[in-house]
Amino acid sequence: MAEATMRAALAAADAEIARRSPEVSRGPRRLRYHLMPATGWMNDPNGFVQFRGEFHLFFQFWPFGAEHGTMHWGHAISPDLVHWRTAPTALAPSEEYDYGESSASYGCYSGSAVVVEDELVLMYTGHVYEREPMQTQCLAVSEDGLTFHKHPANPVIPGPPAGGGIDFRDPKVVEHGGQRYAVVGASARGRGRALLYRGGDDITEWTYVGALAESTGPEGTMWECPDLFPLGDRCVLLVSPMHGVLNTAPFVQVGDLDTESGRFTAAQTQVLDGGIDFYAPQTMVDAAGRRILVAWMQQWHQRNVTAVEGWAGAMTVPRELTLVEGRVRQRPVVELEALRGEPTHLAPRVLEGETLDAESGIAADVRIVLGGGTARAARIGVRASVDRGEQTVFVIDRAEGRVVCDRSLSGVGDATGSVIDVDLGSDPIELRLLLDACSVELFVNDGVAAMTHRIYPAESSTGLFIEPIGSGTLEVLECTIWPMASAFEVAPG
Ligand code: FRU
Repeated sequence: MAEATMRAALAAADAEIARRSPEVSRGPRRLRYHLMPATGWMNDPNGFVQFRGEFHLFFQFWPFGAEHGTMHWGHAISPDLVHWRTAPTALAPSEEYDYGESSASYGCYSGSAVVVEDELVLMYTGHVYEREPMQTQCLAVSEDGLTFHKHPANPVIPGPPAGGGIDFRDPKVVEHGGQRYAVVGASARGRGRALLYRGGDDITEWTYVGALAESTGPEGTMWECPDLFPLGDRCVLLVSPMHGVLNTAPFVQVGDLDTESGRFTAAQTQVLDGGIDFYAPQTMVDAAGRRILVAWMQQWHQRNVTAVEGWAGAMTVPRELTLVEGRVRQRPVVELEALRGEPTHLAPRVLEGETLDAESGIAADVRIVLGGGTARAARIGVRASVDRGEQTVFVIDRAEGRVVCDRSLSGVGDATGSVIDVDLGSDPIELRLLLDACSVELFVNDGVAAMTHRIYPAESSTGLFIEPIGSGTLEVLECTIWPMASAFEVAPG
């Protein structure tokens, strides 16, 4: 096939965006400040990079329906990590290594971006279910950061190393000690692994070094979307694990990389986000040296509530990562605060047998600081209806050292909740909640723990409350609510 095939497919994708996006932008559940597709389906973030001063975020994209299809790469560009504009669709299946005649399972699967001599290079997985090998690693190059050409040398990594399974995808190009590597997700003998390739002088040259790290069993049967990056004085390996057909919570291993042997030694493993709707995170380093992460704010096999509005899937807010005492912390990038409106400050108080009630609206940034008190735990509700028939509840349990999210009354989506273990100590507990039209991200104690969920309450459910659980007191030292402005334009109706 030829370049013309891809150009035609991209033109069709962009025509679909032009046709459908005005209506999608007016949907009641459209997110106000989280990136979502202009139309259709979005999953993994891909190719997150800064190029000529702007942030580029690509993503797994199917414009023609709100379900996973033959995967394209969608593209959004931002000057500030907050305001994103839709760029022309970057990649569409067109070649024998990413296009299948006889099945619907093919496409340009996940990958990453790297700037090489002022050109923007994408490395992605060509996936064709009925092909052998099923998955290969490929390149696409752009001079202007908008129009990409698949490389004539594709596939540049023509298949998995000997002894590996057929799953072989999601290349992340990384740099370590001035040397370029690619980390690729794989599986061997039923265990997830991350493979390391050393890059040559030419971007098309990749030499297999070995398996960087491997699941011992409990960490999953297939590792998707691996990433590897320095943080503080350590090296961090990030993977999104599958257990059979189930995708579960991404985790990081903090450790050290021996580039000679290509082995990564983990000192500590940490689930990155205790919520359900957080998957396939990818990081980049910006010009200021910050390590910034974005994840798909959804998970496989969840109820796809927004499909009726013509879209599905979104991104978390960009989060800055830091390493504190050997653990990874994540906090929303500071740029997001530009969307904050006039805050409401609730006066500090001690609650006993009573509830503090407030209004958050649909999109808000909320900061709550809880002091001591004699109550067993605290309950915080968001997106609550007046009668509390709808509410998303967080239980902050200092005694048990955990935070629980209960979505059983969260609206029409999945009712499953989640729990994260976190040592809340005896100091005040600081909570940050980012509420958007159908999502809530919680950050505990400046990013020691995070929890991300999609929720689908009625538009009128905008209550926020804080109360002690059981008898005793709960000290609320601060509750500040900033309404969040929309970061996106809505088409006139
Ligand atoms: C992870 C994933 C990747 C794959 C992509 C396909 O969510 O399954 O492993 O490349 O999605 O859309």
